[in-house]
Amino acid sequence: MAESTVQGQKAVGGVDGGADGKAAPGTAAAKPAGQAKPAGPGLGEVFLQDEPTPQLVSTRRRIVTGSILGVLTVNFLMFLRFFFPRTLFEPKTVFRIGYPADFGFGVDTKFQNQYRIWVVRNAEGLFIIYARCTHLGCTPDWKASENKFKCPCHGSGYDSEGINFEGPAPRPMDRAHVEIDPEGQIVVDTSRLYSWPKGEKSHFGDEGAILKV
Ligand code: FES
Repeated sequence: MAESTVQGQKAVGGVDGGADGKAAPGTAAAKPAGQAKPAGPGLGEVFLQDEPTPQLVSTRRRIVTGSILGVLTVNFLMFLRFFFPRTLFEPKTVFRIGYPADFGFGVDTKFQNQYRIWVVRNAEGLFIIYARCTHLGCTPDWKASENKFKCPCHGSGYDSEGINFEGPAPRPMDRAHVEIDPEGQIVVDTSRLYSWPKGEKSHFGDEGAILKV
């Protein structure tokens, strides 16, 4: 019975590496791979350890401070966004186009793309047609060979003075305000339009609608 106990202790000693705690050479019992300790705490361990070390407290502070700063930064950027609204920068509505002597009789289309106007001179004077169809707002084309404006959208036709005579357009095209500045140049303002509503009085003869030059 006593011998059996001694043999049992020897057997246990063989597994543990002996009474002095040293691992036997060639055995894996010295330090199992599954028990290897990592170099530092992982993110999950930061909040799971019971007694925080100074390093752990510092890490937690950095995370909380970073989160607060992130939220404040996003809110500040959203606040700044209100000072930069999404706007369309349209061409200016008041501009010079040259001197009256620069324009002969007929329709001049050279400012169509830049300012969406045509300059027209006839026996009465010089005026500016705003190049917008009065049906649904398309830009008509000047057909010099036919002496008329033709809208490509639904076929409205206007004579050389912008008066509608065919198609669905309900009235003539509008005219822009025009005047001479102190230097003698023509100044156009497309934010001030003169119209001739259907069945109503025409404003094409109003002061500012035509230059008697
Ligand atoms: S928009 Fe010009 S005819 Fe319709």
